[in-house]
Amino acid sequence: MITHLRKLLVLICLFPLFLFAQEQEISIIPRPTKILLQEGEMNLNQKIDLHYTDEFAQLADLLNEIPGLQIGNTEVVKKIKKQHQSGIRLFKAEDFDRVDPNGYLLEIDDKGILLKAHSAKAMLPGIYSIMQLSYLNDGKSLPYIRIDDKPRFQYRGMHLDVSRNFMPFNFLKKYIDLLALYKFNYFHWHLTDGAGWRLEIKKYPELTQKAAWRTHSLWKDWWNNGRQYVEQGSPNASGGFYTQDQARELVAYAEKRGITIIPEIEMPGHSEEVLAVYPELSCTGKPYTQGEFCLGNEESYQFLKNVLDEVLTIFPSHYIHIGGDEADKSHWKSCPKCQELMKKDSLKNEDELQAYAIKQMDEYLQSKGRKLIGWDEILQGGLTAGATVMSWRGEEGGIKAANAGHDVIMTPGGYLYFDGYQTDPRTQPEAIGGYLPLEKVYSYNPIPKDIQEDKKKHIIGAQANIWTEYIPTYQQVEYMAFPRALALSEVVWTDQDQKSWKDFQKRLQNHYKILQKLEVNYYRPSYNVINTVQFDSLHSKNTVILSSEQFKPNIKYTTDGSDPIHSSTPYNLPIELSKSATIKAASFLDSARVSPIEMIELDVHKAIGKEVIYKTAWEGYPAQGERTLTNGIKGTLTYQDGQWQGFTKDLDVIVDFERREEIKSVALNFMQIPGPGVYFPGEFVVSVSDNGKTYRELGTVVNQISNTDPALKFQKFEIKLDKPVMARYIQIKASNPMKGYLFADEIVIY
Ligand code: ACM
Repeated sequence: MITHLRKLLVLICLFPLFLFAQEQEISIIPRPTKILLQEGEMNLNQKIDLHYTDEFAQLADLLNEIPGLQIGNTEVVKKIKKQHQSGIRLFKAEDFDRVDPNGYLLEIDDKGILLKAHSAKAMLPGIYSIMQLSYLNDGKSLPYIRIDDKPRFQYRGMHLDVSRNFMPFNFLKKYIDLLALYKFNYFHWHLTDGAGWRLEIKKYPELTQKAAWRTHSLWKDWWNNGRQYVEQGSPNASGGFYTQDQARELVAYAEKRGITIIPEIEMPGHSEEVLAVYPELSCTGKPYTQGEFCLGNEESYQFLKNVLDEVLTIFPSHYIHIGGDEADKSHWKSCPKCQELMKKDSLKNEDELQAYAIKQMDEYLQSKGRKLIGWDEILQGGLTAGATVMSWRGEEGGIKAANAGHDVIMTPGGYLYFDGYQTDPRTQPEAIGGYLPLEKVYSYNPIPKDIQEDKKKHIIGAQANIWTEYIPTYQQVEYMAFPRALALSEVVWTDQDQKSWKDFQKRLQNHYKILQKLEVNYYRPSYNVINTVQFDSLHSKNTVILSSEQFKPNIKYTTDGSDPIHSSTPYNLPIELSKSATIKAASFLDSARVSPIEMIELDVHKAIGKEVIYKTAWEGYPAQGERTLTNGIKGTLTYQDGQWQGFTKDLDVIVDFERREEIKSVALNFMQIPGPGVYFPGEFVVSVSDNGKTYRELGTVVNQISNTDPALKFQKFEIKLDKPVMARYIQIKASNPMKGYLFADEIVIY
């Protein structure tokens, strides 16, 4: 008794230290609420008996998937008795356990493994904690540990588009396994879209005999070459679909692992493939004319309800996703049937026509006991109560929906579109665009800052989307999804005040090994030097922060224009410079350079802070508005960074120095990425004036760089003068012959 007491006292005294010191060493992702690591470990290479109460039968089977765990005798326990104090025990939590209704308690000690929760659903993530602990110890042992854990959000989702590029069935099981390991509980399966219908529907065989097959294997080739569908089995027919049996098999596979599959059947837009084979459902009645169902035609509704009838027999999910995004409403404007319905039902515009259609589906799904989810466009024209909104065009739709009392799943493009680049696009396989590094995903908080307190409860979680236009293989899906999905898993599971990027990065190092064991083609953290430049305009001082995605970067740099070598200055602290300079930096491993040389041009130039007069306005991408082009801060790798300003016409701006100044050079940076329609200017012309009325040209640069190469490029367009001139006004014009976007930043004048 005395020794026990002493032990307890020592434990209590050491407890805070112990917790702090030891917690760091457990690498579970997402980070659990509370971990207490204890001395000792359980050897896995021995049989261990299993006892469980009835409600956990489904989980007992899943234990077999834990590496190294060998289950001996199995007993279904009716009443927990003394003999149940050892072995593996899956037991219902009792009041004194203080387990959250959605959480679990895990204890591993010399008696075995005890897992407690109020339901199987709540216990499942506990199984995956054990699985991770085993992986982390190479399937040999489990640490003695106590974990109290619960999720922050009830909806933790990952999505996959299998229309743009079809993905093999067996890969979907692997995907589910990975999602479950990281405690996701929803898989949003984007089954239909213009690039191919992917689910067998018995009543409409053409959907899979033709609408699932196309002329080109790669989405991009198909998109650029006529976008035709062909009969299954015809020469070069490319694509595929899942049978209803397969879909049911996947549903059961996922359900066992705690994941609900939400099917998405797109409507009223993104439906070119349906209308190619059932053209009577489009406004024109002809195939290959539009991607939107005719909403004035009763047959469209009947078709969709018939499809949903079959979908509902396959997917028990409470949520059913009906798409609703990006419909081109112009067809409805010129369609007599649509207009007639609008008149009859007093629908004021096409937004309300779409809302009418969504309402039909919502009511139909509700009548079957299901709940509709749609992309945030379903808010247009009014939305019926009860529908859940996925906010993808930023967070605004989500905030609006939450304020109106709808449940919301956050999936904003800027943080959770995993089809975008995760590092410097110039080093990556072609992607759709964007720039979403791991740290940015990790930084996301699904509860927006500017949401009313009492509406926060409507944000039920978040999800990342993987659209596959530029993702032709499952290996590439893995590359885009991992490790970013791990960052998201912590975003949706771990309380905001428990998140730590540094700590996550440290734990992640061990998960790279797990992903290798599971043969995941994950994105390897890059050695490329990442720079962040902060400009202090008051003191005209630049602060440069260098990093890489390596856990412990080893960066060397120079400021004298020479290339960095292993004996160059090591980067330890932010570099402060109050004059123009060029920093060259690179990563090193021992004495070898292991990254390209990153060149950072710091221009403390004459135009900083000067007024810019816009003869043509920016459009779509204002960045920092009038302060953008002369704020001393340059645009970075992505036009979404709030520094690149976008122009859809010719660019025509004037810098006003307010008095005559000596001008030696005038430059403006542009970016080009043809995929999303961003091009270099055709001609770059600089003129000067003293009175702001009559200008004299200083020079012209004609672009020589190809606009067909899809790669991301940056180019400084510059006029350098042999002999300086004096002038007050500097006019810069850049033509936009491609009629795409010009992205400009920053005007540098010396
Ligand atoms: C979407 O990305 N169109 C939902």
